[in-house]
Amino acid sequence: MPIKHYLQFSDLTADEYDWLFERAAAIKKKFKSYEKYHPLADRTLAMIFEKASTRTRVSFEAGMYQLGGSVLNLTTGDSQLGRAEPIEDTARVISRMVDVVMIRTFGQERIERFAEYSRVPVINGLTNEFHPCQILADIFTFIEHRGSIKGKTVAWVGDGNNMANTWLQAADLLGFTVHLSTPTGYEVDQAVAGIRSSQSYKVFKDPMDACRNADLVTTDVWTSMGYEAENEARKTAFADWCVDSEMLRVARPDALFMHCLPAHRGEEVEAEVIDGPQSVVWDEAENRMHAQKALMEFLLLGKVSHPS
Ligand code: CP
Ligand code: NVA
Repeated sequence: MPIKHYLQFSDLTADEYDWLFERAAAIKKKFKSYEKYHPLADRTLAMIFEKASTRTRVSFEAGMYQLGGSVLNLTTGDSQLGRAEPIEDTARVISRMVDVVMIRTFGQERIERFAEYSRVPVINGLTNEFHPCQILADIFTFIEHRGSIKGKTVAWVGDGNNMANTWLQAADLLGFTVHLSTPTGYEVDQAVAGIRSSQSYKVFKDPMDACRNADLVTTDVWTSMGYEAENEARKTAFADWCVDSEMLRVARPDALFMHCLPAHRGEEVEAEVIDGPQSVVWDEAENRMHAQKALMEFLLLGKVSHPS
């Protein structure tokens, strides 16, 4: 089987996403009923974190153990990556010893260089440009609550960052629309987002207009990891991009609220929204694990022939 990497959302087809969402649901059901499922027995996942993490670390680690495999965790500081070993050499070595690698790093080109020299599938656990595992889980969560996302509207309020870019790729591939509202100077760059057409998104100056009639309202931190030096300037620029109950009120009455977390109540989202009845952020966080288990199963075993 040729190696399949998951470096950005567009690395899989719409059909493959249908498969993953079904498998995530089946795998979640097993987890909830304490049914053992060990298709990745004797397989090893290496995780490389060049940035901090709670959800990504726990969801991949717990998920791989639940699938019967084992996990090892590396960071820049405790590996030779922090002492300037080329990422290509690290990739050549690690990929001779493990079966799949998850990386959280800075520039997308870094994970692409790793993947080019890897003998095993490489998964993007967040880069400056993309966060595909998160959007995989987010769409799975939307489907669980509301059914297919095709034809729906997702309002993105805030930074034109890795999450926004990935939502655009997903909309382009799966046939929904993103309403984008970002402060001036923090817009999404279509070229960086890696989409050719502007048909699947609309840009709004006022976040209220972006939220109008949306099926899902979502946001993220004002300052992503790696951009901490801009924190004060961002606090000023983003002051009007706080998701509040007024924004949810103009969305559809059954609109959901999502946030990839970690969240800052009183900055990008009001407490009454994230802790309110339309918020599904805890399901969203849990679903990282179920969706990534389906992803690892698919990347390592393909479409398992008799899935149960
Ligand atoms: N949403 C997310 O990726 O969380 P962590 O940074 O905690 O992994
Ligand atoms: N955009 C955020 C997401 C954190 C999960 C960041 O990159 O820090």
